[in-house]
Amino acid sequence: GRKFVVGGNWKMNGDKKQVTEIVETLKKGPLDPNVEVVIGVPAIYLAYVQSIVPGTISVAAQNCWKVAKGAFTGEISPAMIKDIGANWVILGHSERRTIFGEKDELVAEKVAHALENGLKVIACIGETLEEREAGKTEEVVFRQTKALLPAIGNNWANVVLAYEPVWAIGTGKTASPQQAQDVHASLRNWLSANASPDVATSVRIQYGGSVTGANAKELASCPDIDGFLVGGASLKPEFVDIVNATQ
Ligand code: 13P
Repeated sequence: GRKFVVGGNWKMNGDKKQVTEIVETLKKGPLDPNVEVVIGVPAIYLAYVQSIVPGTISVAAQNCWKVAKGAFTGEISPAMIKDIGANWVILGHSERRTIFGEKDELVAEKVAHALENGLKVIACIGETLEEREAGKTEEVVFRQTKALLPAIGNNWANVVLAYEPVWAIGTGKTASPQQAQDVHASLRNWLSANASPDVATSVRIQYGGSVTGANAKELASCPDIDGFLVGGASLKPEFVDIVNATQ
């Protein structure tokens, strides 16, 4: 079976006091021990948060660059993320793609470099409202995933896919369980044909976009939803309920 995996993406939120409080809330939990929990922390707080989380919670960077070191002002490398003890990175988030202009090819280069350096990757994909309304959801999600295939190679065990329809992110407009399940199932079919049947059955696919404590249970009951990537609600105590949504 696929272990349920819930990620919190704090985005550019929090200060030292708030991130400390969030970690305290997670420590109290209680968090379902059968669920993998990964928190995506602003780069400047990565080392601090890594130093205060219990071993049962993993820490992710929200981005990284595609080479180990050098003249790339403002960037951080997978080696640096590993160096402070964190093991995950979120890549290809729609905000990186739309606000910072990251194309499929760049996301793939980042994924390749992160995996080569021993990080686990949450790779984000998802269509805009315009693309959904034009009937292009699958085309977009397959294109974004296809770009990742050579980057991932046979390293699928270290990859989680996050399906985040852009129209559902930060809007309060969650995809319905059926909408999310449909995309997850067709993505798995596509992976079976284009990666391998084994990858298709083993890879975990998170849903992201306005997940809350109130809607997580119903989404979690869908057979092809293996976890969540949570934005706004990951800053709140209800993140505990989202982690525990399969209970
Ligand atoms: P919200 O949960 O705030 O909609 O954000 C989702 C997201 O982008 C997680 O990466």
